[in-house]
Amino acid sequence: MTAAIVGCPFSGGQPRVGVDQGPIHMVEAGLIDQLKELGWAVKFDGHHQFEEVNVQMDPPIGKLKNPRLVSKVTEAVAQAVGGHAKKGELPVTLGGDHSLAMGTISGTLDAHPDACVIWIDAHADINTAESTGSGNIHGMPVSFLLGLGSPVPEFAWVKPVLKPERIVYIGLRDVDAGEKRILKENNIKAFSMHEVDKYGIGKVVEMALDYVNPRRAFPIHLSFDVDALDPSVAPSTGTPVRGGLTFREGHYICEAIWETGLLVALDIMEVNPSLADAASVKQTVTIGCSLVRAALGETLL
Ligand code: ARG
Ligand code: MN
Ligand code: MN
Ligand code: MN
Repeated sequence: MTAAIVGCPFSGGQPRVGVDQGPIHMVEAGLIDQLKELGWAVKFDGHHQFEEVNVQMDPPIGKLKNPRLVSKVTEAVAQAVGGHAKKGELPVTLGGDHSLAMGTISGTLDAHPDACVIWIDAHADINTAESTGSGNIHGMPVSFLLGLGSPVPEFAWVKPVLKPERIVYIGLRDVDAGEKRILKENNIKAFSMHEVDKYGIGKVVEMALDYVNPRRAFPIHLSFDVDALDPSVAPSTGTPVRGGLTFREGHYICEAIWETGLLVALDIMEVNPSLADAASVKQTVTIGCSLVRAALGETLL
């Protein structure tokens, strides 16, 4: 089996510098060799430089910040991920901020139209151009993929390829009021930290799979924002929120998805090595790598 590493040093979906260094740090930490040791053939021909992306002037459109840049970069990512997926390779996209998921999920659904998405995050990232308070596009990729909100012509390439019943969230705890309304109106299933506390992570993952993939027939795209983890576990990230997943809960999710045999694409997003002290950075980068290994078949025994 071949894993294709799609390194995306990109930070334009949010304001904090450094998240573009996340993929570089994870590769430098030895991720490629770690996956080879697990038995994977690994394709990695350097981080994407998005050379084709040439945006001179990018004033906001409505509230959206860096809209042309984000659109062009995520379109290139969709091509890269879709290309790998169509060759039967498993794209592992390293972010970079979570706006990249607009590209990764578009690419996955291009290759596997019936795929479902499991979104692990403190946030729902489902603001529309209207509901966003921050204007940061990393808080909006899901709404674009679902075709919610009024269309933004600069994002015309993003097709509403995702159906609301094909996404499920785990780990939410910082959801904007507008996002709560959007989740309800569209009947989108989410397991917040409240449900993780109530049922335990094993049961929550089972319920999430039963909902989004009842016959275990659909391919799975796992999009993992490291801020789903508690800040004590993964401190180096741009929008940390207390009360998150433990180290084991995060890894359990990855292991359980791997066990389904249905994983076709993985994102690890929002590792920002410029935030917090050196030890915290190392801890967060190391966890980024171990989440990838857990999702790609590493077992404890
Ligand atoms: N809901 C907030 C916003 O829309 C925070 C989003 C954080 N997203 C993330 N990918 N870390 O700005
Ligand atoms: Mn590539
Ligand atoms: Mn988040
Ligand atoms: Mn996110």
